[in-house]
Amino acid sequence: MNKKQIITIAGGGSTYTPGIIQAVLNNSDRLPISEIRLYDIDGKRNEDMALIIDFMLKKEGHSDVVLSSTENPKEAFTGCDFVFSQIRVGGMKMREKDEKIALKHGLVGQETCGLGGFAYGMRSMGGLLEIVGYVQEYAPEAWILNYTNPESIVSEAVRRQFPGIKMINACDMTISIEETIADNYGYDRKEWVSTYYGLNHFGWYTEIYDKSLGRDVMPEIIEKLTSQTMKVADFNEGDQSWQDAFNMMSVMTKDFPTHIPNNYLEYYLYPDMVVEEADKNYTRANMVMDGREKNTKEMAEKIRSGVKEDVLNFNFGEHGQYIVDMATSILNDEHRRFMLIVPNRGAIPNLREDAVVEVPAYVGATGVEPISLRQPIPDFHKGLMEAQVAAEKLLVDAYFEGSYQKALQAFTLNQSVPSARVAKIVLDEMIEANKEYWPELS
Ligand code: NAD
Ligand code: G6P
Ligand code: MN
Repeated sequence: MNKKQIITIAGGGSTYTPGIIQAVLNNSDRLPISEIRLYDIDGKRNEDMALIIDFMLKKEGHSDVVLSSTENPKEAFTGCDFVFSQIRVGGMKMREKDEKIALKHGLVGQETCGLGGFAYGMRSMGGLLEIVGYVQEYAPEAWILNYTNPESIVSEAVRRQFPGIKMINACDMTISIEETIADNYGYDRKEWVSTYYGLNHFGWYTEIYDKSLGRDVMPEIIEKLTSQTMKVADFNEGDQSWQDAFNMMSVMTKDFPTHIPNNYLEYYLYPDMVVEEADKNYTRANMVMDGREKNTKEMAEKIRSGVKEDVLNFNFGEHGQYIVDMATSILNDEHRRFMLIVPNRGAIPNLREDAVVEVPAYVGATGVEPISLRQPIPDFHKGLMEAQVAAEKLLVDAYFEGSYQKALQAFTLNQSVPSARVAKIVLDEMIEANKEYWPELS
């Protein structure tokens, strides 16, 4: 039996914390814990979350688990075993600016894609590098399991500054796509061995092998996707923007029926459609603030005022379970398979080896073992990926070198941008809006 683990959540006040802790508690046989520490730079959000988690621990009979919340990195990280990282530098208010500034100039306004994603990347790199630095200092043996976005950009930055770090970068989107497909078309996702490649939020399935059926079910799923759209899975029920995103998967699969695309490719393949349909005054950030964020505050308020019943109210699908599976896979050498964001190093043989890619990988006690796809990928995907990788690398260069020129090149090369003129206008406006967060560019 493993020793009881100490888990620190970086970005403790995140709206996703309850889902992650719930998954930790549901798996206490494989991931026994002695302590949960919430670390955040926002004391109020962290306190609210501590109330919610304390309520949950008591309700689930885990009162023996020590819970703390702190803004002090030394207290948060010293001696911890796992760090689950999910910070959002600048919060939803800055996400709203990312989305609205881009949209105002006729470009895709999105959290992780397009120029909104690049603006977020420039904020997020510093925040995450700081967390990694704390872990190196206070808990050098700990594993960092990272969900902090935008994943491709922050992973590239961490790889440059902390090359040997024990860190896994993961995204829940492939699991969410698989759940939605399986729910709609009557499969059991747990039977699937999926093969997929790309960059984060920018990839394609090549095979979905179903162990119980003994065959690759991707061709039949492609047929279904092209003839009927999917309904969102229960955890996204009633969320029209996720419904729209999954509808776009059918559009993309109809036009390019060789693979199943990640839904996020809509921002690069059909930016004109996305912009046309967007509400420039009420974007996804507004929906999240009025939804998930408000809901979290309400849970804390109920607990504060002594409510005991119907307090906990969240459902993020497999998001929490996925990251907990990574932790248990390391702890118990389980060798589970995940889609992970890793340096390419030949995994995709005909793509530059220093790209940060998303591919299947097995996780065990010694860390991450990505698979090699062995086959070269087709030119259509390779061309799109190469441009995007170059844009992301230029952005990371801009961050470390403080280079305006590199930032402008990155913004211009982003696949959602049609002209250097508009790239420059948006960059200048983003610099102004992000004064507090970006390094100075000259
Ligand atoms: P949120 O704003 O609700 O929570 C983020 C928390 O991070 C806030 O409490 C904030 O105060 C804190 N924070 C900000 N900067 C910090 C810093 N420098 N150090 C410590 N804490 C800091 O955001 P959310 O919607 O819960 O999302 C959290 C993060 O998880 C985002 O980066 C989001 O993009 C990411 N996310 C990733 C995936 C994925 O699949 N990879 C899925 C969902 C969310
Ligand atoms: C998926 C993606 C995440 C992204 C999130 C956005 O889970 O994998 O990377 O952050 O969606 O969701 P939201 O509800 O904040 O728009
Ligand atoms: Mn993601």
